[in-house]
Amino acid sequence: MDRTLSLDEKASSPITVDLGDRSYPIHIGRGQLSKVDFGRYIKGQKALIVTNETIAPIYLDMVVSQIPNKTIDVIILPDGEQFKNLDTLNLIFTKLLEQQHDRTTTLIALGGGVVGDMTGFAAASYQRGVSFVQIPTTLLAQVDSSVGGKTGVNHALGKNMLGAFHQPSAVVIDLNTLASLPERQFSAGMTEVIKYGLIADYQFMQWLESNVESLLNRDEAALTYAIERSCINKATIVSADETEQGVRAILNLGHTFGHAIETSQQYKGLLHGEAVSVGIVMAAEMSVLAGHLSMSDVDRIKAILNSFALPLKAPAEMTSSKFLSLMYRDKKVLDGSLRLVLLKSLGEAYMSDDFSLEWLHSTLNNSCRT
Ligand code: NAD
Ligand code: GLY
Repeated sequence: MDRTLSLDEKASSPITVDLGDRSYPIHIGRGQLSKVDFGRYIKGQKALIVTNETIAPIYLDMVVSQIPNKTIDVIILPDGEQFKNLDTLNLIFTKLLEQQHDRTTTLIALGGGVVGDMTGFAAASYQRGVSFVQIPTTLLAQVDSSVGGKTGVNHALGKNMLGAFHQPSAVVIDLNTLASLPERQFSAGMTEVIKYGLIADYQFMQWLESNVESLLNRDEAALTYAIERSCINKATIVSADETEQGVRAILNLGHTFGHAIETSQQYKGLLHGEAVSVGIVMAAEMSVLAGHLSMSDVDRIKAILNSFALPLKAPAEMTSSKFLSLMYRDKKVLDGSLRLVLLKSLGEAYMSDDFSLEWLHSTLNNSCRT
């Protein structure tokens, strides 16, 4: 895409998600937690920081100390995708009501995508909508979930089935937070980084292929570049299609397959980024059957995912019929018709409802071991 950074260019900071009077900045860099003036984004006297039991001991004090002159309440949620549900969301509402937060309050999401999605949904619905700020602390949340205003929770029968579009008023990405992120979580975030290369930015895909080692070593320059370029890709797509009437759907490459895995495993199995990695391989294999990609393209996709130790095949217990029943509950199903994001080429994705079911069955059978 021509809107992205050229490979030797630095992003002008902050990057902006351009949505008219709801536009907002994405601040990216080392030490942002102590550089950004959070007060600018907290209009009222009160704010509620939403975080979890893993992140709170590491980063909570730092964030609280950056917001003097405001009344800061905190809620610490249990950690895990299996807690991204209405029961946990209700804990946030209870806290807000107990502490008498009114419509001038600001919620602050301090954590990964689970905390961010739930905090955003709480902000979208509390007293019909209050502001919120995203402080994403996983790579996945920094490059994807904190940007774009998709918020929500899971249902036992379907991933992200309850939610709202609600944009944050700022995203603050501090690279220092990645120092404590476990390797498996880092790799899961790389899935979404690689996704941008595949759907819209072939030059970025090539750059990623040449910079695997630096990224695995969390080299500062490489990481900053990958996060900035991912955020620019996402910001551009969201600015063009905030509520997914068209092009935004390509951000879901591999997600319909991946969400089926996560739901089937009751959100306690593969990580989101891992499940999407499997889904990306499946979408790529279907794109071969659709006549767009070659097997060597698929091999390149598998190679880059594999270099971050990401899974390429469905977990052992997944069957084609489990996939199919869950995939037909996906949000991209319209009037009973399944739509999937496929690849026209490396660097160009499209939404398709015009594929042969034989291709789908063959792809599922190829990924499932039984
Ligand atoms: P997560 O929020 O579960 O975080 C992963 C793990 O890392 C958790 O155990 C968390 O406590 C821990 N953690 C977070 N930051 C840490 C840090 N700095 N140091 C040490 N540990 C840390 O998972 P995730 O991968 O960040 O997000 C996945 C979620 O995001 C899924 O629910 C997915 O549906 C959602 N998502 C949403 C969007 C969107 O547009 N809203 C996009 C992509 C994914
Ligand atoms: N992660 C998909 C989207 O933001 O649209």
